[in-house]
Amino acid sequence: MRITTVCLGNICRSPMAEAVLRHELELAGVSGVIVESAGTSSWHMGDGAHPRTLATLRTHGLDLDHRSRQITSEWFDKDHPNRPDLVLAMDVDNLEMLHSIAPTETHESIRLIRSYDPANAGLSIYLPAMSVPDPYYGDESDYATVFEMLRVPCREIVVSL
Ligand code: 4NP
Repeated sequence: MRITTVCLGNICRSPMAEAVLRHELELAGVSGVIVESAGTSSWHMGDGAHPRTLATLRTHGLDLDHRSRQITSEWFDKDHPNRPDLVLAMDVDNLEMLHSIAPTETHESIRLIRSYDPANAGLSIYLPAMSVPDPYYGDESDYATVFEMLRVPCREIVVSL
């Protein structure tokens, strides 16, 4: 199984989600799940994760080897090597961009990551509580907030597998 976390630049939120989800899978002893990340834009292609994302992960004992990539419509082709079984969008803009590039029959496999937070059950995708806010122009505390927002959904995703 391949799970792909997606944000805009693939340097701040989705790499952090990738590391958190991989860690939760390890803690639960789940093997055979490939976790990757990508961005809807090409703006940072080839760049490493943002220093504040890496610093936040390290605070929690996590590390990540990362290069930014852009997800494209081809990734949803049946024989594409990156074809995801589950896509976890960080915010509603990412979700809508993914819906615009992915075939309709794959849309059920594209979810907002915070929709897995039990506190958000049944909420509209458009509510702020359903999105992980972009921390790019923020400070350390914004990255720490992103980390905290990701923990519970990642645990629930592991349970849901
Ligand atoms: P990300 O954050 O989508 O969480 O990786 C951003 C990174 C870069 C930009 C915006 C958001 N940017 O405008 O370059």
